[in-house]
Amino acid sequence: MMNVAIEAAREAGAYLLENVGKIEHLQTKKGEVRNLVSEIDKGSEARIIRAIRARYPDHAVLAEESGTSEASSDVKWIVDPLDGTTNFVHGVPIFSVTIGIERKGELIGGVVYDPNREELFTAEKGGGTFLNGVPLRVSASPDLVSSLIVTGFPYDLATNPGHIVEHFTDFLMLARGLRRLGSAALDLCYVAAGRFDGYWETSLFPWDMAAGVVLVREAGGTVTDLNGNTHSIYDHRVLASNGIIHDEMVQVLKRRL
Ligand code: IPD
Ligand code: CA
Ligand code: CA
Repeated sequence: MMNVAIEAAREAGAYLLENVGKIEHLQTKKGEVRNLVSEIDKGSEARIIRAIRARYPDHAVLAEESGTSEASSDVKWIVDPLDGTTNFVHGVPIFSVTIGIERKGELIGGVVYDPNREELFTAEKGGGTFLNGVPLRVSASPDLVSSLIVTGFPYDLATNPGHIVEHFTDFLMLARGLRRLGSAALDLCYVAAGRFDGYWETSLFPWDMAAGVVLVREAGGTVTDLNGNTHSIYDHRVLASNGIIHDEMVQVLKRRL
């Protein structure tokens, strides 16, 4: 299954790269002005689903643009064909393809491919995390003041602001630096790679996180909800870190929850 996921992610990533600047039909989704989709998201998704179906016709697939296809199998593929759509639309070279694999509700594998940098992040449960075949480990950053943190902003922030501005200000004041890349999957990969020390976000979907959660855990990191409790990709909020600064991040987030 990992080989199928890797091949599909590479094929979709190459397709995305070929189509930068070539969008013909840009639309909004869910009545949200910031939530974009084009024929390129759909083209990428069609390629991934075709690759999965060719090898595993009975597996379930949950994909961002086409929804869930139920199946008899207990394996579910969770697919975001283009994570970082806003960047893609604007020609910013920070986007990815992400494919997670769940069996009986448990995440067992993840692949994220960044076609701009030709970086392939892979992890199987119990087998460690790799970047282009080289093992990855989360950072050893001891505290927030020596940490580079990343976050993301929801598309529906105008109607559902939550505490994003307050949390952003709090981390800005306490951390070494704060970033917003625009691809949740890459945010998680970069935590796994020790490039970022921590990441939180509040309005995600399973396809944004499924692969990245496995990558962070297998690289020795911690993934929870914002309170430090058990994480589910079907809940919208995530906190991922090197583990060492996790509690410090929970305390900062809890001030406003
Ligand atoms: C988005 C990206 C972004 C995050 C948004 C996601 P999309 O996914 O991951 O970083 O902040 O919440 O929806 O729409 O580009 O697939
Ligand atoms: Ca996404
Ligand atoms: Ca997407």
